[in-house]
Amino acid sequence: MNAPANHELSVKPPSFVQHPKLVAWVSDMVALCKPNAVHWCDGSEEEYQNFCDLLVKAGTFKKLNPAIRPNSYLACSDPTDVARVEDRTFICSKEKNQAGPTNNWMDPDEMRKTLHPLFDGCMRGRTLYVVPFSMGPLNSPISHIGIELSDSPYVAVNMRMMTRMGKDVYKVLGSHGEFVPCVHTVGAPLLEGHKDSSWPCNKTKYIVHYPETREIWSFGSGYGGNALLGKKCFALRIASIMGHDEGWLAEHMLILGVTSPEGKKYHVAAAFPSACGKTNFAMLIPPKGFEGWRVTTIGDDIAWIKPGKDGRLYAINPEAGYFGVAPGTNEETNPNCMMSLKRDVIFTNVALTDDGDVWWEGMGPAPAHCIDWQGKDWSPETAKESGAKAAHPNARFTVAATNNPAIDAAWDDPKGVAIDAFIFGGRRSNTVPLVTEARDWVEGVYMAATMGSETTAAATGAQGVVRRDPFAMIPFAGYNMSDYFQHWLNMGEKLAATGATLPKIFTTNWFRKGPDGKFVWPGYSENMRVLKWMIDRIEGKAKGVDNVFGISPSYTEINWKGLNFDQSLFDQVTLFDKDLIVKELELHGELFEQLAYHLPPALSKTKEKLEERLHA
Ligand code: GTP
Ligand code: SPV
Ligand code: MN
Repeated sequence: MNAPANHELSVKPPSFVQHPKLVAWVSDMVALCKPNAVHWCDGSEEEYQNFCDLLVKAGTFKKLNPAIRPNSYLACSDPTDVARVEDRTFICSKEKNQAGPTNNWMDPDEMRKTLHPLFDGCMRGRTLYVVPFSMGPLNSPISHIGIELSDSPYVAVNMRMMTRMGKDVYKVLGSHGEFVPCVHTVGAPLLEGHKDSSWPCNKTKYIVHYPETREIWSFGSGYGGNALLGKKCFALRIASIMGHDEGWLAEHMLILGVTSPEGKKYHVAAAFPSACGKTNFAMLIPPKGFEGWRVTTIGDDIAWIKPGKDGRLYAINPEAGYFGVAPGTNEETNPNCMMSLKRDVIFTNVALTDDGDVWWEGMGPAPAHCIDWQGKDWSPETAKESGAKAAHPNARFTVAATNNPAIDAAWDDPKGVAIDAFIFGGRRSNTVPLVTEARDWVEGVYMAATMGSETTAAATGAQGVVRRDPFAMIPFAGYNMSDYFQHWLNMGEKLAATGATLPKIFTTNWFRKGPDGKFVWPGYSENMRVLKWMIDRIEGKAKGVDNVFGISPSYTEINWKGLNFDQSLFDQVTLFDKDLIVKELELHGELFEQLAYHLPPALSKTKEKLEERLHA
């Protein structure tokens, strides 16, 4: 195909695009990025298959054995492009204070000057894909539209799975509808006569958000949240700003439904930091002792939550698929997930077995031989010596939500589901007990705001170090964290003013370790026992024990049927160590110092009250 000279490429949209401003923007971006061709995605099955074929030809995808894993592919990334890059993520608001001390900030004009030369000609030799997507069901008043321009067909196929992507979006958009413009490039122009890499990317990376103009610009990475811009960039960072301005919440939360044997149903939204168990909890199958109980999935990563006229909070999952952590997922820890992954999956950075299937650490018995995520021979023996992992610890699967056998009937309901409880849960080897209920909304906001968690492979950088991760939103809040706390407090006040019962707020920690360095709490399906106690609290059936930090269960309030977990083990995951708590409160103090600008006084007061109780 003879492409016209780059800068003269005409941008003729297909007839289903009738939006002059959008076409003008695409023209501008084509003039800047200088791709060889423009492809307007229609979201059809045929287009998806064409893209997959193209990715196979380019060496990005390997088609898995269709007899074992039908219509599924494996992509292996560049070893330097494996996770979100938090240190390269910027909130470029006019004022530095608007981004706050927990975000990287640069003046928007300065950032535009920095990015311009990088984007100039960045798509040479490549196709620019115009990817129209809706976060949330099409035509829902809660949903919002984005258009991602990307030079990565891997992004296009993933976006089709993760969002409502396709030409119907243009029907909603009409000729003047609003959309969030998202520009993405792998930052690797392809010079004539040069061979492309199977995972093009650039060692320079910028993940940039302009809050005032609600724009997203991403340079240099093809991986996950860096590149699938509907997810963290739009549905969390930009959406959290929209929510602040418009009176709603965009949160890093799973949403689940839990139904009792009597048919009583509750909805819970839970914020755990990246790779800390959201997908697992959202797909939970109740263990022995919980016959007749059922957990159903509304979402596994992001929740958009809006107050209803009745004073209750209604949540939707803005996504349409799961981009979940593969390692550790197996038939025991998450059978519903394993069922979801039977077909129509894109795997990234897992290992390829000799029979053309996939494998990862914690999936089950290791194969005698496989090709690891970096394309090298791998066997359990050689791994013992080298410590090499077959799958990258942040290896992921992309799959449509509709593959999940536990999908909730209302997962797609534009009205959303009414939330009965919020959970905030960190990954802590010590200090933080299994479960605590906040005595009121303000105390709950305090608990969420001061949450600490050990860092995971979901982001590049140091692993396993405890950091404060308020609301599991430290990498995702698009504005000042203290203003975000205030927004949560304001929401509580507004809801309370309607006379409605506010959702209860709990914190959890599935990850306390014993002297042997092993997790004491069995976790996974057994987390149902904690969920049930929460429901008992909502229904007024469990009294709980009032302690320094809130309300916790007594041993006998938990249903232990089907599990051997004696009082001494229970003590190991629930008891407070006063010295550790004193240290923990010092860390809360350090956080509050860092966030002093606009820190809600109610939070400092709550801290004082807790300290008084502790020393009483
Ligand atoms: P993101 O997609 O990164 O936001 O993460 P997520 O919160 O959805 O994490 P996910 O559910 O995929 O869990 C990641 C890791 O946590 C996996 O390795 C799981 O095996 C492990 N995990 C999940 N639930 C539990 C639990 O209850 N106990 C323990 N010990 N590990 C768990
Ligand atoms: C997370 O890191 O919280 C994720 C994966 O859900 S990513 O989309 O890469 O951000
Ligand atoms: Mn996440």
